[in-house]
Amino acid sequence: MVIVRILGIETSCDETSAAVVEETGDAARPWSIRSNVIASQIPIHREWGGVVPELASRQHIRDICGVVARALDEGETEWGDLGTVAVTQGPGLVGSLLVGVSFAKAAAAAAKLPLVGVHHLAGHIESLVLQNGELPLPSVVLVVSGGHTSLYLVERPGSYQLLSRTRDDAAGEAYDKVAKLLGLGYPGGPVLDRLAKAGNDRAVALPTTRLTHADRNAPELRGDLDFSFSGLKTAVLRHVRAHEGSLSDSDIADIAASFQRVVVTALIERLFVAARRYGARSVGIAGGVSANSRLRVELQERGERRELPTFLPSLQLSTDNAAMIAAAGLRKFRAGMTAGFDLNADAALTLA
Ligand code: KG4
Ligand code: ZN
Repeated sequence: MVIVRILGIETSCDETSAAVVEETGDAARPWSIRSNVIASQIPIHREWGGVVPELASRQHIRDICGVVARALDEGETEWGDLGTVAVTQGPGLVGSLLVGVSFAKAAAAAAKLPLVGVHHLAGHIESLVLQNGELPLPSVVLVVSGGHTSLYLVERPGSYQLLSRTRDDAAGEAYDKVAKLLGLGYPGGPVLDRLAKAGNDRAVALPTTRLTHADRNAPELRGDLDFSFSGLKTAVLRHVRAHEGSLSDSDIADIAASFQRVVVTALIERLFVAARRYGARSVGIAGGVSANSRLRVELQERGERRELPTFLPSLQLSTDNAAMIAAAGLRKFRAGMTAGFDLNADAALTLA
């Protein structure tokens, strides 16, 4: 087999990233990372308490050339060593996506390379394979980030079937909003995770949402595995308002711990219900929120109890990065799924 090397590009939100990933020739561990360069825009958006789309796309334009040059350099790769270029086509912020898609098209045209459009969530799912090798299939994977909270069934390599998703806020978005209303800054996940360790997770009574009926907006899904976090966020807001001005540091740690318990319980429970329903031989969690310390521990504990292998990406591969896009790109390239130069960014791209 001819070993293919790929350049991956990711600009869907607030990270400009480029990576060089190569096939190994080993079917069980199909890819290895030669480089994975990530320019985070967090310091730029922190000032505004969240991602400002117009600032994000402008910063991607400033960073993209340098980030790609460094990824090639660190990966000891010339343009002529590449077999293909993959780029995140969607979903995400359209202005941000357009920077990566335009760059990838121009690069592929200039270097005479095939182009592959990648769904951002396929990238998160393949981060598990990049990290751990092929998963025992079928596998149920939870993709949980600032923009998404979705369960996917992977029956065959490269096939992703949506089982459920959030009806309102994503889990990471709930972390970011709760941190903001507590005055803890952006992004909220890491800081709340840290504070929660010192808090009592039963101190504040917060609601858990259980959905039983199909969503009118997604009648094809059963709905009982769907998530909802906006009620939880509102309950935290009410609690904070009721104690305005009198919250000590330890009260804030208690809120963080109680909030984290409810979020992690909802995520883990539905993941394992889905695993049982679909006869999964493994489960995984990917996306920015998979960096959460309690989620990682509970995944492992529950997996051991159920004798089900569990998979996580490394911390570097959990948040947005181009190595995972390159991996998903190699999967599509090998399946012959290349794109034409009419490839366009799609902010609401669905994953079939
Ligand atoms: O995957 P990602 O980098 O970007 C999106 O595609 O959204 O995920 C970022 C999200 C943010 O909402 C951030 O608050 C959350 O992941 N996050 C965490 C932790 N680290 C990052 N949430 C909970 N606990 C963490 N340790
Ligand atoms: Zn992401």
